[in-house]
Amino acid sequence: MNALILYGTETGNAEACATAISQVFADTVDTEVHDLADMTPQAMLEADADLVVFATATYGEGEFAGGGAAFFEALREAKPNLGGLRFAVFGLGDSYYTTFNQAGETAATMLTTLGGTHVGHTARHDTSSGDDPEETAQEWAREILAVLATPVVS
Ligand SMILES: Cc1cc2nc3c(=O)[nH]c(=O)nc-3n(C[C@H](O)[C@H](O)[C@H](O)COP(=O)(O)O)c2cc1C
Repeated sequence: MNALILYGTETGNAEACATAISQVFADTVDTEVHDLADMTPQAMLEADADLVVFATATYGEGEFAGGGAAFFEALREAKPNLGGLRFAVFGLGDSYYTTFNQAGETAATMLTTLGGTHVGHTARHDTSSGDDPEETAQEWAREILAVLATPVVS
């Protein structure tokens, strides 16, 4: 199994969380970590990963941090069929803002609307909570691994 872990960051937290997630995955999953600034929707699909993880912070009026803005705008324009894509979202934000973690929610909605399958729950790390982002990311990554290991009953 292989996973692509993509992050959108302004000040480094999302990148640190992406690395923390890859460390948890490392025993069972082959992972690649990339900045969303260096990724396009087409390159993501061509990677044909079993799981794509988005670690994205929120800024401004609920906008994507860093390369997330261009990536999700390109996705919005191209509207590729994401049937067959499994994804998970680790959001970072601050409950001080009314748009708390809006980018993570927007990402999950957009990816689902285009046909992707959402694995686990969208994490909402809160800077105001004082929780360590990397520890929160590792805990969440273990939950995602547990969901992936659970057989689907049809
Ligand atoms: C100028 C500024 C604006 C921010 N705007 C928001 C926001 O609108 N919504 C939110 O949930 N968090 C907001 N945050 C909090 C960041 O998303 C949060 O600190 C996050 O951990 C930063 O991640 P990064 O280091 O990967 O950029 C803002 C932070 C700063 C410094």
